[in-house]
Amino acid sequence: MPRIVVGNWKMHKTAAQTAAFLDVFLPQVTALPPAIEVVLAPPFTAIPEAARRLHGTRVRLGAQTMHWELEGAFTGEISAPMLLELGVTHVILGHSERRALFNETDHAVNLKVHTALEQGLTPIIALGETLAERKAGTTDDRVVAQSHAALKGVSGDALRRVIIAYEPIWAIGTGENCDPGEADRVMGTIRASRTELADTPILYGGSMTPSNVGAYAERPNVNGGLVGGASLDPEGFARLIANAVRS
Ligand code: PGA
Repeated sequence: MPRIVVGNWKMHKTAAQTAAFLDVFLPQVTALPPAIEVVLAPPFTAIPEAARRLHGTRVRLGAQTMHWELEGAFTGEISAPMLLELGVTHVILGHSERRALFNETDHAVNLKVHTALEQGLTPIIALGETLAERKAGTTDDRVVAQSHAALKGVSGDALRRVIIAYEPIWAIGTGENCDPGEADRVMGTIRASRTELADTPILYGGSMTPSNVGAYAERPNVNGGLVGGASLDPEGFARLIANAVRS
């Protein structure tokens, strides 16, 4: 299974800043081995600039969210055809910030997953427990429920095109990454919750850095990373990718 590293820039970088990042980043990732996939998910407004520069490289283009409808009266929203037209191949769905700050429900995530798959985008489904859920011992129930809800009605070939990202909410942007062994255990639980997930890439996310990526990459249930803060610096992100490849 290929290793996948996704950079989630969140609301960082203008188009000009994206160009400056790629000027430094792209020369450092020219010789990626075939077994690694790199996806960059800039803000919508930087996607055209990123698309121009990523054309002909091995780095794929992702979006950070989208609407489930293809068009309509949804002020401020972006649809799958709009992303596809720009060369986007992946879309992050159900990130905890979308769930917590923008009222994205399990049902909405499920609708988006169906649309992404129907339209030919690869969904990267983010899920994870809060600190309160972890302390209450309900982590496994929570992530399995989120996974089932997001994948409701998805089966067969479509299911094989899904990527899952396990992101404990308390580890996101805090510098307190989840212990790699524990992350691997939870990810194994998600994998085992449905037989068709046996070969699904499952990524870890939450304060992943160039120095801790190796400890995740060597775990059997970890197929890569969804990286926020550490994807913003071109040299650091290239180093993280190199370390993911090495381990
Ligand atoms: P972080 O964010 O790497 O900054 O913790 C990860 C994410 O939110 O996807």
